Amino acid sequence: MKLLKVLVLGVSISLNLQAQTPATSIDKKVSTLLSKMTLEEKVGQMTQITIEPFLKMNGNQPVYPHQLDEEKLSAAIKKYKIGSILNVGGNAQTKENWRNRITVIQRHALQERLKVPILYGVDAIRGNNYTSDAVMFPHQIAQAASFNPAMAKKGAEVTAYETRASFLPWNFSPVLDLGRQPMWPRIYETYGEDPYLVAEMGKAVVAGYQGNAAITDKYHVAACLKHYMGYSMPLSGHDRTPAWIPERELREYFLPQFATAVKAGAKTVMVNSGEINGVPVHANKHILTDILKGELQFKGFIVSDWQDIQYLFQRHKVAKDNKEAVMMGINAGLDMSMVPMDFTFCDALVELAKEGKVPMSRINDAVSRILKVKYELGLFENPTGNTEDYPLFNSPAHNKVNYDIAAECITLLKNNAILPLSSGKKILVTGPSANSMRALNGGWSRNWQGTTSDSTEATKNTILEGIRNTFGTNNVEYSEGASFENAINISETVSKASNSDIIVLCVGENSYTETPGNIGDINISAPQIELTKALAATGKPIVLVLTEGRPRIISQIEPLASAVLHTYLLGNEGGNVVADALAGKINPSGKLPYTYPRNSNSLINYYHKFTETLQAEDPAGYNPQWEFGYGLSYTTFKYSNLKLSSNTLSAAGSITASVDVTNTGSIAGKESVLLFVSDLVASITPEAKRLRGFEKIFLAAGETRTVHFRITPDKLSFININLKRVTEPGEFKVQLGGLTSTFNYK
Ligand code: BGC
Repeated sequence: MKLLKVLVLGVSISLNLQAQTPATSIDKKVSTLLSKMTLEEKVGQMTQITIEPFLKMNGNQPVYPHQLDEEKLSAAIKKYKIGSILNVGGNAQTKENWRNRITVIQRHALQERLKVPILYGVDAIRGNNYTSDAVMFPHQIAQAASFNPAMAKKGAEVTAYETRASFLPWNFSPVLDLGRQPMWPRIYETYGEDPYLVAEMGKAVVAGYQGNAAITDKYHVAACLKHYMGYSMPLSGHDRTPAWIPERELREYFLPQFATAVKAGAKTVMVNSGEINGVPVHANKHILTDILKGELQFKGFIVSDWQDIQYLFQRHKVAKDNKEAVMMGINAGLDMSMVPMDFTFCDALVELAKEGKVPMSRINDAVSRILKVKYELGLFENPTGNTEDYPLFNSPAHNKVNYDIAAECITLLKNNAILPLSSGKKILVTGPSANSMRALNGGWSRNWQGTTSDSTEATKNTILEGIRNTFGTNNVEYSEGASFENAINISETVSKASNSDIIVLCVGENSYTETPGNIGDINISAPQIELTKALAATGKPIVLVLTEGRPRIISQIEPLASAVLHTYLLGNEGGNVVADALAGKINPSGKLPYTYPRNSNSLINYYHKFTETLQAEDPAGYNPQWEFGYGLSYTTFKYSNLKLSSNTLSAAGSITASVDVTNTGSIAGKESVLLFVSDLVASITPEAKRLRGFEKIFLAAGETRTVHFRITPDKLSFININLKRVTEPGEFKVQLGGLTSTFNYK
């Protein structure tokens, strides 16, 4: 009898344990907490306020280092029950200041009736850039050039660790916008123009940020996919201006990467600030609710972008006032409003709920999603952190990860047998970005526009400093030549060039992001062209080093250069990496994650339609400076033996494409092997080709490896005229290196 009881008890215990998976126990906690909440408390959870109103001010500038104005903070928590705070309030703060900030904020939040911790969000978009001294990685566009998601994941793990070291649990990253409009000032925040590459990088980085555990541990953060969706292709190329994207194209090019990252478990999503086809996305129920929460089954929460509910009436003019704007946004499916400066959202939503204009079911849904993420982040148990847990913050190990990533991003676009540079040469280093940490880091570097990097990153090496360290100060001359905007000392620079063997000319862009980064002309600036032409007239060979957030057209000066190294925005290790690449310590292995345009009125992506192919009668067809996926090495790779396991693919089957890649040079190198497939005839005009797989391999000199790609029908699919994903029977062409082969899908 006793035995039976024990057995029965054992069974019931194990059944209970099975029933209590973290997910169900969190769901229970959420519904219990929700049932105790007043309407005002619920609305508070949906409210996100920026930190500025809670900082002590000196005139209109925060006191530095920042100090919290606890009275204002406490009033906001007591009266409005706010559930979330964001941002830095200007310049980066030390991690000690952040820890103090979060500790004080949580103390106030936990004094409240229901003790719900505040969720603090920050743009740690390339490392924890808003905390002083945290590692600043290459921007996303550079990381995409590595074609190495595993490496990007390592960077994301470091970012998560260093963000959590500031007690910050939520990162507004990654950007999954498609970088296919090169004028757009946020191209560098993307993983480039190809949806598959964006999806693979995004998936890896979400895993790096969030880790795998059901409850996020103290070394991981919640990711925020942004800016859902279609933000990146304003017709004008200017930030937050109208886009016209038919739903078929949205689903073909802009949605898949979000779908992949949602499936990978991303906890939050931020919305596109712009309008598509005349409808602001913040008011688009179809995009937010039907597609994201319905079709994609997204279970996390959706946060607005900065002030975007208010902008529904202030800018977009689809609502007559704030209250109508709140109604539109919340009914469309937004769960949290980044208000961010006042409490008008709270007042409006409480009224709307009382009037029945926003259903309580919608509010309960939003709050449940937010509380769920707070539980999943472990904030109820650990709303702050332990200072001793983060000894690796800005450690040599973390900085090494940064160097290793940057080394895989740098992209060699031209080399007339001049690189690597032989030693003992006299080098003139010149150009506006030669001695600038600001140009290496771009925007989102200790402050929004990245304006302070020259002082905040003074201990890191600029390109000039890196070259001096590597090649010896005596061999290196410097002259600025020009700034981005003006000629400075061109004739002096030319005479220094005449006394040198080689010119390293660093050109590109200064830092910017979002609307302040809009440009009227995508050509590289005139003073930089003038400087290049003057230097070229000396007859000395020029190595052009590009430091730029988007591909500025250089067709006038590229022919004057003997070599071109593209660094995108390589971050704090950029100076060392450029120097080591010039010296041959790094063998470049990056490949372009976008099409580099040649002409300003011909901004065409690689997956263009056949009607855009360059033809004799149309000189403005697809004729880029360099194609997507282009990148050289100091060694050479030969592709041979392309084989398909079958010439026929069936609906339930798969075929394997394989190719031998040989390092035919005399040094080791890495090669990203890119699989392109073309659908030769389709009911929607097919693209010239699409990337359907990639793998980065290491080959010692003389080594050969066979690379395999599995091709399944879904990899060949596209969105048809009825908005359905289909794979149509017919012939397909596979391209690997310069080799091609065809197969039939039946
Ligand atoms: C940007 C977002 C960012 C947010 C918070 C907005 O202006 O569009 O990418 O996450 O500000 O800083």
